[in-house]
Amino acid sequence: MQLDIRDKLIRRLKEAGGYVSGEVLSEELGITRTAIWKHIRELRSEGYEIESSPGLGYRLAGVPRKMNARELAYDLGTTVIGKDIRYFESIDSTNSAAKKAAAEGCDEGTVIVADAQTAGRGRLGRSWNSAAGKGIWMSVVLRPEMAPEDVQLVTIAASVAVSRAIFSVTGIRTGIKWPNDIILDGKKVCGILTEMSTEIDRINYVVLGIGLNVSHGPADFPEEIRDKATSLMCHQGEGLNDADEKSARVRTALFREILRELENVYFMLGSNAKAVLDEWREWSVTLGRPLRAEIRGVEYKGTAVDITPEGRLVIKCSDGVIREVMSGEVSIRGVMGYV
Ligand code: BTN
Repeated sequence: MQLDIRDKLIRRLKEAGGYVSGEVLSEELGITRTAIWKHIRELRSEGYEIESSPGLGYRLAGVPRKMNARELAYDLGTTVIGKDIRYFESIDSTNSAAKKAAAEGCDEGTVIVADAQTAGRGRLGRSWNSAAGKGIWMSVVLRPEMAPEDVQLVTIAASVAVSRAIFSVTGIRTGIKWPNDIILDGKKVCGILTEMSTEIDRINYVVLGIGLNVSHGPADFPEEIRDKATSLMCHQGEGLNDADEKSARVRTALFREILRELENVYFMLGSNAKAVLDEWREWSVTLGRPLRAEIRGVEYKGTAVDITPEGRLVIKCSDGVIREVMSGEVSIRGVMGYV
């Protein structure tokens, strides 16, 4: 990620933790004191609280209260994922924007993230509720060197990465429902929509769309999904984010950790896919559970017994036959309202 002069200014003020004189800033950044003052003014208009004192210089007193591109990208420490982060206050769908960026040749690891989506999309043509300030609505462009039929592994890796990130930021342990739902208290807290462009035997790009419900109270969900959807805050209570400012901070922390873990797990997929699958098994709320699956239009009941090296779900059906599911709908008893 290319740092602009304002990133450098913020970094310097953060590191100082107190006042830094205009003169020092001007020398270190190689621009005039008037230019420093103009950049400070711009940063204030972005929402940074920067105090100035004639004798002492400038001091960072607070970061923006809303999600903000600079804070999302600040010192991320990744090498591929998040090299280019494009933040929108509102967008139709981050997946649509990421597909467009990918088709135009953007770098692998480019991320589109928005505070709100007006036409968020879910799997199977469903819409995805993406209210402003409530969640993380993001899409990542990947260019994996794998056969198109193995793309499920990317979704598997992403669900592991998101589970790890939620745990490390909030201490909440979620579960993964095959193939791509993250479950909390028997309801869906995060969905992943993987879309791709392929040629016969290779992938041009994959867009990994992640929708994580963070700050919703129960009434923030439309009535028709209230019994199936939850948020981290519904689980943890107001302590997670009792003010807009805190919600932005939690969402920023989660977003950054998701990118870091996505990079870790995505790289792991290239070097040791078995380890990713083993970790998926640990997070899974699918294996060993009674379920109902639709396979090529036929409904089967059974129990999930494993996941294949390509990420397919292995089901021991009630007729005794072992079947594999590649994609589609699986309902697990006790999860998301299925009894
Ligand atoms: C699902 O149906 O479970 C998948 C939901 C995926 C939602 C995310 S939100 C960010 C990205 N942009 C979209 O339009 N959809 C995905």
